[in-house]
Amino acid sequence: MCGIVGGVGDIDFRRYLIDGLKKLDYRGYDSAGMAYFLSNEMHAYKIAGRVEDLDAVVPSFSNATSGIAHTRWATHGKPSKNNCHPHVSMNGQFAIVHNGVIENFRSLKNRLLARDYKFASQTDTEVIADLIEYYFNRNGSTLSAIRETIGMLEGSYACGILSKARPSRVYFMKNSSPLVIGVKDGGKSYFLASDLSPMAGLAEQVIFLNDGDYGYIEPNGIRVYHDGEEYEPEFKDYDFNFFDSHLEGYPHYMLKEIEEIPSVIVREMDNYFDGKDYLLNESLIEELKKAKKIHILGCGTSYHAGLIGARYLRFAGKIAECTLASEFAYDPYDLDEEPFYILVSQSGETADLIRCLKILNDRGLKTLAITNAKGSSIERNSTYTCLLYAGIEVAVASTKTYVATMVLFAIICGCLTSSTKAMTNLSSLLVAIRQAIADKNKIKSMCGAFKNQKDAFFVGRGYDALVAKEGSLKLKEIAYIHAESYEAGEIKHGPLALIEEGLPIVAFVSSSTISSISRNNFEELTARGAKLLVFSVKGIETAKDAYSIEYLPSYLTPAVFAVISDYLAYYVALDRGLPIDKPRNLAKSVTVE
Ligand code: G6P
Repeated sequence: MCGIVGGVGDIDFRRYLIDGLKKLDYRGYDSAGMAYFLSNEMHAYKIAGRVEDLDAVVPSFSNATSGIAHTRWATHGKPSKNNCHPHVSMNGQFAIVHNGVIENFRSLKNRLLARDYKFASQTDTEVIADLIEYYFNRNGSTLSAIRETIGMLEGSYACGILSKARPSRVYFMKNSSPLVIGVKDGGKSYFLASDLSPMAGLAEQVIFLNDGDYGYIEPNGIRVYHDGEEYEPEFKDYDFNFFDSHLEGYPHYMLKEIEEIPSVIVREMDNYFDGKDYLLNESLIEELKKAKKIHILGCGTSYHAGLIGARYLRFAGKIAECTLASEFAYDPYDLDEEPFYILVSQSGETADLIRCLKILNDRGLKTLAITNAKGSSIERNSTYTCLLYAGIEVAVASTKTYVATMVLFAIICGCLTSSTKAMTNLSSLLVAIRQAIADKNKIKSMCGAFKNQKDAFFVGRGYDALVAKEGSLKLKEIAYIHAESYEAGEIKHGPLALIEEGLPIVAFVSSSTISSISRNNFEELTARGAKLLVFSVKGIETAKDAYSIEYLPSYLTPAVFAVISDYLAYYVALDRGLPIDKPRNLAKSVTVE
């Protein structure tokens, strides 16, 4: 979702801005633009299309003094050239790129309209540009104009701003949406971006701005203000190796990332277990033991992984439940005396979760962030962090981080119950996943069941019902097939009416306890003409099953069934010629509520 790149100083701006936008394109976007100062003249280019299209229209230039660029994911106003950023204020004094949503933009726009301001777009961002210009025209100072504008805005924003009065500066302001600044050569150049990826390989040290911060960067100088007071930012070293991500011969990141899962599990085991003892923060474990109730919050795939984590915690003797962050954010019930909250987020920047975290921090509650993104907003603002060590995930659909989250919950529960059995079981999980990867062509050959189909079901009981949710999400987001997940026992209470000849149904059976009852439910579906693909575990398989995974304790089977569902979605989407890594309308990092 929307990305910002900017910088000042000794930079090849054309290359940096275009490459920076390309590095942010994993977040998802529908249009792109840039503005820069060359010989004190502001130049701006925008395109409703890909960064490659922008690259084709921007002329070659060198010796620019400052620049900003943006990838937009439409919220206010359709994807179009006019709605694309940078937005230039009515009299051309300022150009601005913005991530976030200004909630009161309509009333602000009405006030500006009453002062004869004209608008070229339908966006909330243009209102910010005009407000800054309005205040600048009154007091002649960009910094004061930004400060006054901040006082008017409600909502989230991370902004990079060019001002005609200062062509070698990029101004910034931040609230709720992330903004990072990097520095090189002791301040000769500064970089500004919505995440670290555009400055990987360029910046030597970084700072993450705080909510309410504003200021500017210029060659040999940075000024940061908060509530009108200047403060000295503390730049820190950052290990950019994390951002090394290449296709390495794979046709898609999704395929590469599925196949990285075994190495991710090994990395997690190494980071959280030394062969004898768990290496988790002791006070975190004490908090978890003490907590009367553990709440897990997440969105999308992270929510699905959280559902599994909650079940693990219940087996470890805790009262635990998982709730969608977007629901909790507006119904933040909390009746327990000693709750502990776990926020699961691959990106660490999901707006729904950030809102939840603010509520929890305001209540003075302890939190654990389970995330793949060191330095992200959720990581920095939580009491504790457990990193997933999954390496950057580029494909919009989360694959390796789903499994990594589940594995981390298994490790946490192993530590809570002082049992190292979890680690032995994770070694078996590795074997089962490696085997499923080796058998991917068998899974691919099953995709014919989805040919010309518009609908599908994923069914199972217990852990199987939980992984069915993730399987159906993947088929929706990647293969654009309407898929529903259902608890196997519930099918007779409604969905049975939808079963037609040839309807593909993916069914999971992970343990002997539920095998016979689940299979009875599956028979009801086959009897009505559905095309069943049953995935089971060796030892409880039947001759009719599509595929059986290596034997595993049932609690770990969702990790392998997820790999199978990921492959199914991947190969069906491939067959349909769909843009697998960047499905339509979706974004990797969802920074609006
Ligand atoms: C988006 C992505 C999903 C992801 C969800 C939550 O919808 O497309 O793949 O599961 O956000 O993201 P998070 O970064 O918080 O895990």
